[in-house]
Amino acid sequence: MEYQKTIAITGGAGFIGSHVIRLLVKKYPAYRIVNVDALTYAGNLENLKDIDQLPNYIFEHADICDERHIDELFGKYGFNTVIHLAAESHVDRSIMDPLSFVKTNVLGTAALLNSCRKHWRDNYSDKLFYHISTDEVYGSLGETGFFTEETSYDPRSPYSASKAASDHLVMAYYHTYNLPVVISNCSNNYGSHHFPEKLIPLMINNIKHNKPLPVYGKGENVRDWLWVEDHARAIDTILHKGKIGETYNIGGNNEWRNIDLVKLLCAIMDDSLGRPKGQSERLITFVKDRSGHDLRYAIDASKLKKELGWEPSLQFEEGLKRTVDWYLQNEEWIDRVTSGQYQQYYAEQYVKR
Ligand code: NAD
Ligand code: DAU
Repeated sequence: MEYQKTIAITGGAGFIGSHVIRLLVKKYPAYRIVNVDALTYAGNLENLKDIDQLPNYIFEHADICDERHIDELFGKYGFNTVIHLAAESHVDRSIMDPLSFVKTNVLGTAALLNSCRKHWRDNYSDKLFYHISTDEVYGSLGETGFFTEETSYDPRSPYSASKAASDHLVMAYYHTYNLPVVISNCSNNYGSHHFPEKLIPLMINNIKHNKPLPVYGKGENVRDWLWVEDHARAIDTILHKGKIGETYNIGGNNEWRNIDLVKLLCAIMDDSLGRPKGQSERLITFVKDRSGHDLRYAIDASKLKKELGWEPSLQFEEGLKRTVDWYLQNEEWIDRVTSGQYQQYYAEQYVKR
């Protein structure tokens, strides 16, 4: 079959990547989607088991830092689009081990950009390098204000600094080599298949097992939460309608203090598990704060709405209920990813905190 596009999606076995692949393979049977993933602790092919038999989906086990391997894949498939999600993505791990973040997020992105330049430089038409980034590059807000596409970069964790560096490299390849690029910076995602090192799935898992719920500091930090399938829809929109060289902010317009969010989750889960009202809340434990903990993130996504017509679709309480249901119905998934290596991470991160 002659495909209209062949798209490499890096990090497709992770949380957001698997949702993006699911959307694109089903919606565009004429696109060939190649999932390029190194399968780190965060990558899980089970995330894609409902679509991995589709004829337009292929998995390639590869590390984005391995330029020679990526070059081979360019030769094999002739990618005309790259959607780049592969990254080390957890802030707490970046505090434990910053260099692995520099390696994947900075060097890995540079290697990928290099491969694109080598393979595309004779003909840039119909080519696109789409870089998936984060709102954390903008730093931390006080109690008011929003991040816009014009906000200066001010990253404050090793994770956000490595993502900021990768964004700068992408723009450098645009200005220096005319590589056709687009970037989007998104707020906190939530939904199914989210690795339980992150706040929402960690709390769901601990509530289920009646374990302490470790809230950092006083729980006053604020995040802007977006349903992961809405993020995937935004990526689809930008892929097709985004302007080369532009940046788009994506957000949920949905700010929550961590403590209020954890209490809401406790209430939803008391209901789902048939526990008396207020029982799970008693598990909340305030623990030592994250170093350099950004106070507040909030995205102004009006450019994306005005120029490309995207907006979030799902109301938060409904999204959280669906998320809780998914975790309760997929016990094997969560039990598998929380065995082995996860136990060691959890002990290092939380015991004596
Ligand atoms: P994740 O940690 O769930 O998944 C990352 C994926 O990348 C995994 O499948 C992993 O195996 C793969 N990977 C890691 N290193 C690799 C390498 N060297 N080569 C190839 N594959 C590698 O991450 P996520 O939460 O799905 O985030 C995906 C992207 O979106 C990241 O770039 C992240 O910075 C960005 N982002 C995430 C959020 C969020 O709330 N999770 C918000 C905004 C932006
Ligand atoms: O804003 C986008 C970013 O959102 C993405 O770029 C990152 O990849 C993603 O991990 C996420 O980063 P955060 O640091 O905001 O997410 P996390 O789930 O780790 O934490 C959310 C908030 O909850 C944060 O204020 C820290 C707090 N927290 C987190 C954990 C894991 C706790 O209080 N206790 C916890 O155990």
